[in-house]
Amino acid sequence: MKFSQRIQNVQPSMTMSITDLARQLKAQGEDVIGFGAGEPDFDTPDNIKQAGIEAIRSNQTHYTAVGGTNELRDAIVAKFKNENGLDYERGQIIVSCGAKQSFYNLAQVMWEEGDEVLIPAPYWVSYPDMVALAGAKPVIVPTTADSEFKVTPEQLQEFITPNTRAIAFSSPCNPSGSAYTRKELEGLAEFVLRNKLLAVSDEIYEHLVYDGFKHVGLAEIGPEIKKQTAVINGVSKGYAMTGWRIGYLAAEKEIVSQIAKLQGQLTSGACTISQVASLEALTGPQDAVGKMRDEFLNRRNETVGRLRAMEGVSCYNPVGSFYTFPDVSGVYGKKFDGKTIDGSLGFTEFLLKKAKVAVVPGVAFGADAHVRISFATSMENIKSGLDRIAEAIDSLQG
Ligand SMILES: Cc1ncc(COP(=O)(O)O)c(C=O)c1O
Repeated sequence: MKFSQRIQNVQPSMTMSITDLARQLKAQGEDVIGFGAGEPDFDTPDNIKQAGIEAIRSNQTHYTAVGGTNELRDAIVAKFKNENGLDYERGQIIVSCGAKQSFYNLAQVMWEEGDEVLIPAPYWVSYPDMVALAGAKPVIVPTTADSEFKVTPEQLQEFITPNTRAIAFSSPCNPSGSAYTRKELEGLAEFVLRNKLLAVSDEIYEHLVYDGFKHVGLAEIGPEIKKQTAVINGVSKGYAMTGWRIGYLAAEKEIVSQIAKLQGQLTSGACTISQVASLEALTGPQDAVGKMRDEFLNRRNETVGRLRAMEGVSCYNPVGSFYTFPDVSGVYGKKFDGKTIDGSLGFTEFLLKKAKVAVVPGVAFGADAHVRISFATSMENIKSGLDRIAEAIDSLQG
């Protein structure tokens, strides 16, 4: 069968593959501990679930407006005002089937062949592929743990060409867990404006920040940069609602109406029941978010502490998200089963075989010295899984 060049250029999502592999091994009776999860292990809070159940009972089971219900979009407008100090109108908001679709939609309406999009690495796995699906070229800008995985305008400037149209990043970042401060964002805003780019600011981990870090979004820097920014967010991570598939985007009206045109032909809009549940998430009690954050913080401390104690491993202490992104390159060059571990894929394979632990290779995020270890799993799993990793590393021959 002949498949389009477009789909042949796309890589399968490596994070999804690792989670699936760990699930398969578990189903075969293997005692695998999974650190691949890109979602909270908590249940969706009860009030949100009840709102979904009530939506079905009251027959809210028909299509909604393509961009989302007025109630949900108004709640998103209020969320931006109250939490981010940003003024949007309803027509500047569009609700989609997850933040993943929000980014896909944006890529499809904004970029095409000949365009370039700057993507600082480590990046969320799907950005480069979705940019490529739009026919444009992802231009990867590498960073290291020394700069807390953050890019500077000077660094970005080296990658600018006449074809550069945009920059896309997440803050807090999946996979590194780092996040930009207001001062750093001021620098980025100036760079974006000077080069007349669109900035895509993915803030889906906004509520999961630690140690008193205050999340700031790029659009909050000022009215000019707000106009040049598309903010992406959603309920998946902060409200433990990944399976409900609701994300949203805020931008200038002309961008949103182009996206609505696409979405009208693509999905007709997001699931009605999930929209009702998301309305409850945004407007109902917020205490569940704080409880999850507190638990994540304990787990982060445990994970980072243990990783830092391992020979050949160094680990940045993430200020946000539920990921750690340790540098494991100190172990590269050692041998397992007669084979030299020569990168993050080899290291991941070694951990799966030797320690029965699943992590995600950093190469999936454009950073081969690292692996991503999610702490969205129980403290018990964290303790025994990291014990296993430490033992496996100790067993390696030079
Ligand atoms: C940075 C980032 N953006 C967007 C998403 C997609 O979230 P959603 O479940 O809303 O599609 C994820 C999920 O892993 C993510 O990590």
